[in-house]
Amino acid sequence: MSINEKLAIHGGAPVKTTPYGTAKRFGKKELEYVEEALNQNTLFYWKGSFAKRLCAKFAELNGSKFCAVTSSGTSAIHTALGAVGVQPGDEVITAPITDMGSVIGILYQNAVPVFADLDPHSYNMTAKTVEEKITDKTRAVVVVHLAGNAAEVDEIVEVCHKRGIYVIEDCAQSYCCEYKGKYVGTYGDIGCFSLNDFKHISAGDGGMIITDNEELYHKAVMFADKNYNRFGNDVVRNSPHVAPNYRMSELVAAVGLAQVEKVEEICKKRNAYGDALTAGIRDLPGIYVPKVHPDCKSSYWFYLIRVDEKELGCTREEFAEALRAEGIQAGAGYIKQCVYEMDMFTNQTAFGDMKCPFSCPYYGKTVEYKTGLCPTAEEILKTCIRLESKEYFTEQDLKETIAAIRKVSAYYQSIK
Ligand SMILES: Cc1ncc(COP(=O)(O)O)c(C=O)c1O
Repeated sequence: MSINEKLAIHGGAPVKTTPYGTAKRFGKKELEYVEEALNQNTLFYWKGSFAKRLCAKFAELNGSKFCAVTSSGTSAIHTALGAVGVQPGDEVITAPITDMGSVIGILYQNAVPVFADLDPHSYNMTAKTVEEKITDKTRAVVVVHLAGNAAEVDEIVEVCHKRGIYVIEDCAQSYCCEYKGKYVGTYGDIGCFSLNDFKHISAGDGGMIITDNEELYHKAVMFADKNYNRFGNDVVRNSPHVAPNYRMSELVAAVGLAQVEKVEEICKKRNAYGDALTAGIRDLPGIYVPKVHPDCKSSYWFYLIRVDEKELGCTREEFAEALRAEGIQAGAGYIKQCVYEMDMFTNQTAFGDMKCPFSCPYYGKTVEYKTGLCPTAEEILKTCIRLESKEYFTEQDLKETIAAIRKVSAYYQSIK
């Protein structure tokens, strides 16, 4: 190994010589739309034009018939669950590696989350892992498309629909993720998206749902608005079921619209960056690049690799630290533990001491959450390294990221 290949962590020159690219997310369009929204003299979604324009634009982008807006990704998923009629005693299957937003709505409907294991390299649920968890209590499945990459959702839909089980797609991390010629979010009964500040596009906070089913659309719009029915001439405030206020304000919709107008371009760039990163490192021993279906274009919300420490010649922590010393944005791990390993599940304290919804009489069953439930998901979390993927990263960022990974890998191979 030549002297200039000495790792930065050992005092060598770092590979990355310039800072990663950055960009301003909000610009003239957002300002223009916000001003226009304020000039409407109302910020109420039913009266103003921006929530409607946002819905029209997002539905068109996805080729969906209907779109509704909500206050967050979490509320979009809760709204979808409410619309399909999830109620106490039901089970809803979802992923163990996700944000709590995928699960909170299930709990608020007093339904029991059931976790399906993941594919070891796409990090997504599969038809097989979902099918294994279906019982006569399963009302719905929340399919999470993790990190911009499509789960094989068509197969999951097939397994579910023949049993009358609804499929809700959690696309919070997966805008414009093309899968077999369509965007994810359009395969299940309802697709849900987040506009929180960490996503491909941001309105600060916000959520959107898409569907082709008019009845579900009506139910979703009402569920996000206290189950008030505003579709007729007079507002009908007489619902048999409780529902929250998850309305989006016109200001958020104004920013959301400007952002949605850019989302395809953003995702295209992330797709190119992530695929090029894969091409640059896929041959390295002990490194497993994310598995993307041949008919999928991932929009790489982030870029997650897995390592085999024996093959790699070091621990993933050492590898990630060495990368950081080279100037690369890399971190060992993603979320610390599977969702079901959190206290509210292991201690069944989601709603205090009553053990509801897990061991409530209306459930008629008991459930246990503990380490070991989804072994592949647990293994993914123990062996992954997270790299960033941004639409504003430059060609140089890409080259240096690849060069740094190759340099660190070569060093640990040389001392194995
Ligand atoms: C997969 C997934 N689902 C749901 C959510 C919830 O979105 P929000 O933060 O907008 O409520 C997130 C947000 O991080 C997410 O990543």
